[in-house]
Amino acid sequence: MSLPAHIDFWNTRYASGHTPWEFNGIPANLQAFLKKKSKGTTPTASPRGSVLIPGCGTGQEIKAFAEAGFEVTAIDFSEVAVKKARELLGPALGDRIIIGDFFTHEFAPASFDFVYERAFLCAFPPELRIAYRDRVAGLLKRGGDLIGYFYYKTPDRKAGAPYGFAWGSSDELFGRHFILLKDVPVTDSVPVFAGRERWQEQRRTAFTGN
Ligand SMILES: C[S@@+](CC[C@H](N)C(=O)[O-])C[C@H]1O[C@@H](n2cnc3c(N)ncnc32)[C@H](O)[C@@H]1O
Repeated sequence: MSLPAHIDFWNTRYASGHTPWEFNGIPANLQAFLKKKSKGTTPTASPRGSVLIPGCGTGQEIKAFAEAGFEVTAIDFSEVAVKKARELLGPALGDRIIIGDFFTHEFAPASFDFVYERAFLCAFPPELRIAYRDRVAGLLKRGGDLIGYFYYKTPDRKAGAPYGFAWGSSDELFGRHFILLKDVPVTDSVPVFAGRERWQEQRRTAFTGN
């Protein structure tokens, strides 16, 4: 998953502007989540906690999380995507992005309150999902939440990414490590995910096995 050829794939996509997964803005469920977390308090009186955005791409959501009072860390291994993100965000927020591999970068264990998922997990073939789940579970504090967008479509090897979840297979993957707190359909998906995307909030349990 972190072979140079794979990084080249993403660099080429960003350099050519062929990025049909990009939302270009803040999707509605995330806006609602940030609003709910901010309700009735100021970030200084009540910090919202730390969030990691793996595979952040051009980092559309970084500013929104930061403005809502979250301490944001983002990571992507595509230098081209991160350059674009930094141009978009400016130096202060741009510095919140690490150029590196989500799976191997040296983060302290259990260091995040939230992990935000969008269009990252579905970039991997199904056999890499356990590695994703274990990495996310290891980086979240106990009781921390994996939040974001999950794509549901039976994976098609010939068509390649994005790889969705067949119905039920996400429960099989996340069950025990996470409790599903919220699961709602998404109405403002980009065409590539339309009708097959769900907003979910999943809470890390104490489970550490396989
Ligand atoms: C489909 S894009 C999604 C980007 C962004 N989350 C969005 O919603 O626009 C997948 C991103 O994951 C990044 N990526 C893939 N594998 C990665 C890895 N192992 N570590 C860090 N970034 C990775 C790619 O460079 C790409 O930017």
